Amino acid sequence: MAASGERSGFEVTRLSGSLGAEVRGIRLGQAGPDEAEGIRSLLLEHQVLFFPEQYLTPDEHIAFGRLFGELESHPNLDFESERPEFFELHATGGKGAIADEWHSDLSCQDRPSVLAILHMVKCPAVGGDTMWANMTKAYEELTPPMQEFLEGLSALHDAHPHDHPEQTAIHPVVRIHPETGRKSLFVNEHFTRRIVELSHEESEPVLRFLTRWATQPRFGLRYRWSEGTVAMWDNRCTQHCVLNDFEGERVIQRVTVMGDEPESAVPARWEPYLKPFSAASRHDRQLKVHLRERDRRGRG
Ligand SMILES: [Fe+2]
Repeated sequence: MAASGERSGFEVTRLSGSLGAEVRGIRLGQAGPDEAEGIRSLLLEHQVLFFPEQYLTPDEHIAFGRLFGELESHPNLDFESERPEFFELHATGGKGAIADEWHSDLSCQDRPSVLAILHMVKCPAVGGDTMWANMTKAYEELTPPMQEFLEGLSALHDAHPHDHPEQTAIHPVVRIHPETGRKSLFVNEHFTRRIVELSHEESEPVLRFLTRWATQPRFGLRYRWSEGTVAMWDNRCTQHCVLNDFEGERVIQRVTVMGDEPESAVPARWEPYLKPFSAASRHDRQLKVHLRERDRRGRG
């Protein structure tokens, strides 16, 4: 049992050598600021927390989420609701909204979410597990020369998987966690397209290496869901992927805590690499458009 769990009075069981813990001994539906403080420190320690047998109502779910910050609505989901910050997503037999590619939530935005809180309302008898990866450990286990190479680089992310390739953001490849001060890799195969300071030919193998490196099983956790379980994860230092291997219905409800702007580990050292453009990559043009828009807004 983790020391912080003992301090907070919760029963805490670690789930892998890299990240994740199951927490019992608390009713999230009745949690207040004191419990939220304990949960926040557990989240910083374990990155992903699971609370079995919670069965939150939507209003309890929203109230619990608000203990951790302002909630946001999902920009790319059309979900009619009187509660715009609350989402229910249905998937049946592997069809529907299944995020079966590794990603940090909405890294295609300037301010990706800080954390997400998901309630598993209905899950298939088998399959539909979710995997998480510890991006802090993935960074820390790189060699010092590779760490130095990556620090100060940035990457272009886009919302192409949500049918909005025009929605782009640039984030540091290595970001500093604002609460722990630890460095994490911040690239993922779902949203990240191009390292800004490298050519297309250089960027592609580096991104391929990083996304494969970070999703090695030893950096990860695979979680088997039960109905009524609530999960929350720190989106700043983890990424995740749902296994699209199930039959039957999978229903989740979630709220998301609004994001902050990822901070680089070191000041930028290089200018964006803009020419010559490669006809082989549409991301060159995408990068040029993004930088032009950024300059126009006076942020460049
Ligand atoms: Fe996600």
